[in-house]
Amino acid sequence: MQNSPFALGLGIGTQNSNGAWLEVYYPRPLLAPDQALVDALQEFASDNALSAADLNEIANRLDANEQGELADVAEQFALSDQPCVLTILTEDEGPQSVPEGYLKLHLLSHRLVKPHGTNLTGLFGILPNVAWTNEGAIDLTDLANRQLKARLEGRILEVSCVDKFPKMTNYVVPAGVRIAHTARVRLGAYLGEGTTVMHEGFINFNAGTDGPGMIEGRISAGVVVGSGSDLGGSASTLGTLSGGNNVVISVGKECLLGANAGTGIPLGDRCTIEAGLFVTAGSRVQVLDNHGNAVEIVKARELAGKSDLLFRRNSQTGAIECLTNKSAIALNEELHANN
Ligand SMILES: CC(C)(COP(=O)(O)OP(=O)(O)OC[C@H]1O[C@@H](n2cnc3c(N)ncnc32)[C@H](O)[C@@H]1OP(=O)(O)O)[C@@H](O)C(=O)NCCC(=O)NCCS
Repeated sequence: MQNSPFALGLGIGTQNSNGAWLEVYYPRPLLAPDQALVDALQEFASDNALSAADLNEIANRLDANEQGELADVAEQFALSDQPCVLTILTEDEGPQSVPEGYLKLHLLSHRLVKPHGTNLTGLFGILPNVAWTNEGAIDLTDLANRQLKARLEGRILEVSCVDKFPKMTNYVVPAGVRIAHTARVRLGAYLGEGTTVMHEGFINFNAGTDGPGMIEGRISAGVVVGSGSDLGGSASTLGTLSGGNNVVISVGKECLLGANAGTGIPLGDRCTIEAGLFVTAGSRVQVLDNHGNAVEIVKARELAGKSDLLFRRNSQTGAIECLTNKSAIALNEELHANN
């Protein structure tokens, strides 16, 4: 049996003066589109910008395939002078182009696929480093001229960041989230319903929360945080992009990483790490029984994925200790009722 195609997106974006894509916005990406729809549109799918005539024909074919909302988008694109592109991913392979990479990032932030749910191999090398400004995405080689031009016209070009990934909220704001500082969430982040990200919180691409949850710490690339969990101020989760750590970190349900705490091991459900304690995989941990007596010493990685654990650093001896967590956290009801 043949698999259905992976994804389809009709996007509008920015190209540099050589016609290379800097970014693409896909307002209504489709996961697993019908094969018939893909067959009808395949001839228009490429990295080349579409003409108005192409876009009107795409709109007709979308309508004929019961994709009225996307057909409306195509009609509106046809009236714009911005470059538009049709991207079809027949299989879930690593992205080969900027439009393909952006479509995959949209699938994540639209909650159509979960972190690790799509192949992102090679993404970093494909995405250009871009100046994100109040006048849109600008190629770095054009930036100095654009800054000068703005000054000569009595304006200041506001460069809010120089990065490969834009902020998610300029592309999609998924329902039921609160984000105190939008620059802290990159496109490609997955924010489950009921997620609050406070000013110190950060969520990378291909990472996120099942929601609800309170995120005041950093969710590194590849890390997923379960529902009902709380990452305290400046808490940290080890990523896999650098530093040789190749175990994918996750945090289970109803966990608490205290302020300035961190984890280098996957945590099960209802685990707590004391404020200020960073549990790295190789740390030797003294396991205590219910009477507070030391039972054994294990490496933290041996406790990976286990539930109901409390990690603390003994304030008298300095040893890292692990106890049964008796008081699983409850998210602050008032804060979350007002998400
Ligand atoms: C680890 C933590 C959860 C423990 O809190 P708790 O379960 O309320 O524990 P308590 O402070 O009541 O202490 C229970 C007992 O353990 C002892 N204890 C607690 N931490 C200890 C430590 N680091 N070393 C030795 N003993 C310790 C207490 O002295 C107390 O002893 P007792 O039973 O003899 O009186 C808490 O210290 C913590 O770090 N919370 C994180 C809060 C946070 O950062 N939230 C995010 C805000 S942004």
